Amino acid sequence: MTAGYLLRSLLLLILALFSANASNWLYLAKLSSVGSISDEKTCEKLRGLIQRQVQICKRNLEVMDAVRRGAQIAIDECQYQFRNRRWNCSTLETVPVFGKVVTQGTREAAFVYAISAASVAFAVTRACSSGELDKCGCDRNVHGFSPEGFQWSGCSDNIAYGVAFSQSFVDVRERGKGQSSNRALMNLHNNEAGRKAILNNMRVECKCHGVSGSCELKTCWKAMPPFRKVGNVIKEKFDGATEVEQRKIGTTKVLVPRNAQFKPHTDEDLVYLEPSPDFCDFDPRTPGMLGTAGRHCNKTSKAIDGCELMCCGRGFHTEEVEVVDRCSCKFHWCCYVKCKQCRKMVEMHTCR
Ligand SMILES: *[C@@H]1O[C@H](CO)[C@@H](O)[C@H](O)[C@H]1NC(C)=O
Ligand SMILES: *[C@@H]1O[C@H](CO)[C@@H](O)[C@H](O)[C@H]1NC(C)=O
Repeated sequence: MTAGYLLRSLLLLILALFSANASNWLYLAKLSSVGSISDEKTCEKLRGLIQRQVQICKRNLEVMDAVRRGAQIAIDECQYQFRNRRWNCSTLETVPVFGKVVTQGTREAAFVYAISAASVAFAVTRACSSGELDKCGCDRNVHGFSPEGFQWSGCSDNIAYGVAFSQSFVDVRERGKGQSSNRALMNLHNNEAGRKAILNNMRVECKCHGVSGSCELKTCWKAMPPFRKVGNVIKEKFDGATEVEQRKIGTTKVLVPRNAQFKPHTDEDLVYLEPSPDFCDFDPRTPGMLGTAGRHCNKTSKAIDGCELMCCGRGFHTEEVEVVDRCSCKFHWCCYVKCKQCRKMVEMHTCR
């Protein structure tokens, strides 16, 4: 073993420690081989958790399956929202699941942090309402009759519990020693913005009671929006995200817009520190940087899903592919719909 080898190993180790990433816990979504997280030993074996998250896991075993579902819905929603963009949120089978793309303080990282902080709050709240957990249930603080004349059911979504859990579990890394680093401030801000996307979009859902749905009595409860709505809100915040830098006010460090002419961001907005790469080319040294070769594009769109922008000017090839569709559907008495299968040729464009 040479000194050079040792030095290199040491450097790699240090690099690995520094690239340890606050969103590594999303790897929980990949652990389908681990059964239910039902004992403390399992917490220690979960890849992607930092020590303090392992402690939280041990103290909140029954909540961990919800956290895992949260990780999965965060990844699914990210892939849906980014399906037409150069970076399409594809995951790797390693930690961190989005590769190096989220280790820089970019707009994409801002989105990933926000959506995952929201998804944990969402999944834990869902688990509370469904009666799956001993530690929490419905929010019964909203009760009695409302001024509008309906009755609160007494089983509103307990978003306060979900948000508090997300704050302790997701934010834990940032609240440690690196608390005042730019990046920690950025992550904390975006985590909070993600949770706000649920809190600010709570809705009232109702059910009618009475003879044949006459609605003599209406009971209502506060419910979270569907997660798709949360994803849409955070994606809008991504599109309008603010580039920020650190400023010291007294002894406190804060993030302020880099461009002084921009109006300051609010609690609900996303912030980022560094411009994003163009995501055009595959880069073997940057895990997760897949490039856009092979991506489908839209020949007539001028937006980012259009072949011009998606393929970064490299051009695209076109092939005719057959798609099978349902067509000439007829309603039959009673009660079913019968369709034919139609084949048609469509052009499909793929980036070079
Ligand atoms: C993202 O695009 C790559 C090609 O660049 C493709 O291999 C991958 O399947 C896509 N991922 C998703 C989630 O659509
Ligand atoms: C392609 O883009 C055009 C213009 O934006 C849009 O009208 C059309 O629906 C898109 N086609 C597909 C297959 O998405």
